Amino acid sequence: MQKLKVKIPASLADNYTVTVGSDFLSQIIQQVKKLLPGKELFVITDSNVAKTKHLKGLIGKEKISVYVINPAGEKSKNINTIIKIIDTMEKNALGRDTAVIAVGGGTVGDMAGFVGAIFKRGIDVIQIPTTTVAQADSSIGGKTGVDSKISKNAFGAFKNPKAVFVDVCTLKTLDEKQFNAGLVESIKHALIADAAYYKFICGNLNDILARKTKALEYIAVKNCRIKADVVEADPYEKNKRRILNYGHTIGHAIESASNYKILHGQAVAIGIIAANIIEQKLGLGGEKRIEELKELFRNLDIDLNVPKSITKKKILDIISRDKKAVQKWPRFVLIEKTGKVLCRDGEYAHKVERKVVEEVIDILLSQKY
Ligand SMILES: NC(=O)c1ccc[n+]([C@@H]2O[C@H](COP(=O)([O-])OP(=O)(O)OC[C@H]3O[C@@H](n4cnc5c(N)ncnc54)[C@H](O)[C@@H]3O)[C@@H](O)[C@H]2O)c1
Ligand SMILES: [Zn+2]
Repeated sequence: MQKLKVKIPASLADNYTVTVGSDFLSQIIQQVKKLLPGKELFVITDSNVAKTKHLKGLIGKEKISVYVINPAGEKSKNINTIIKIIDTMEKNALGRDTAVIAVGGGTVGDMAGFVGAIFKRGIDVIQIPTTTVAQADSSIGGKTGVDSKISKNAFGAFKNPKAVFVDVCTLKTLDEKQFNAGLVESIKHALIADAAYYKFICGNLNDILARKTKALEYIAVKNCRIKADVVEADPYEKNKRRILNYGHTIGHAIESASNYKILHGQAVAIGIIAANIIEQKLGLGGEKRIEELKELFRNLDIDLNVPKSITKKKILDIISRDKKAVQKWPRFVLIEKTGKVLCRDGEYAHKVERKVVEEVIDILLSQKY
């Protein structure tokens, strides 16, 4: 018997730059051409973004093919859309020297990234995120994929982009509910990693909600730095990357139990409150913070009431099947204080007794918090 080692060299090729600014869409194509000389460009967007001025602002007079995903949103985030996109690319005779440019929210970014991961075994991807979720979260970190009939992101791959361009002015056309719900991921970032950032959000919420460019640029830079630091430390979610799931264990369960009728951000806001109640029960403190958070979410017009149709049994059933559950019980990411995630013996996700979690779910369902 012989053993041959295949050594895949660690390469700097996976490094990429996130550019944050405002009103610079018209410069991006030139920058992409410089970064990826000779590549054929193929834009993927959706029917809502295609209606805004952003797409024209980006493409100008360039001759670039555009694929418009229709209908926009999660409904289309499935393998059939991927097949249609790849069929179109083949009809356009595109090859391995193509770079796809995602212009849109997380659904467009996840689909375009997945196309980039699988088309001819992988082509370059550029992300131009246009929602608060995509600018804070999905455009960075390389997770891509689409949903199956049964579960979210059932098909997926890691595919790091070659560059990310965050133009905060694109957020000005986003509807208010989406805009506000997406900010929950920013609050999550602040809670797990940066107390000063948390203070900034609390103190400048009016400017953020008025979509003032300076405030949006500030939060975009903070979000990208925090997410990038975590992803650099743990690109494939072996351990530390799990901290990005703060508030997501119970949040996801509620989102899924509602059949995705409530927005992800709203579910995560409830999940963050749940994590805070767990922290209090475990003696980690944070009594003042929980009141601040409720106020913050109220100001974002986020309803913290769990829909009446959702039962305790349903939530327990879903969390016991959590992807990262150990012996059918999930691990919880917790913070020891604002801006500092709890790490014990090198572990970032912690066992919390069933009794404690059940009490917290009772509190959530009683809607008395
Ligand atoms: N890959 C990751 O790491 C990661 C992280 C978080 C979320 N996600 C995924 O992201 C998706 C959610 O992303 P999302 O919240 O951005 O949703 P989305 O892409 O569906 O966008 C929300 C809505 O806003 C519209 N829209 C987007 N940009 C707009 C703009 N500038 N102006 C007007 N309308 C605009 C879209 O057409 C859509 O109707 C989910 O599928 C989730 O799984 C992925
Ligand atoms: Zn999230």
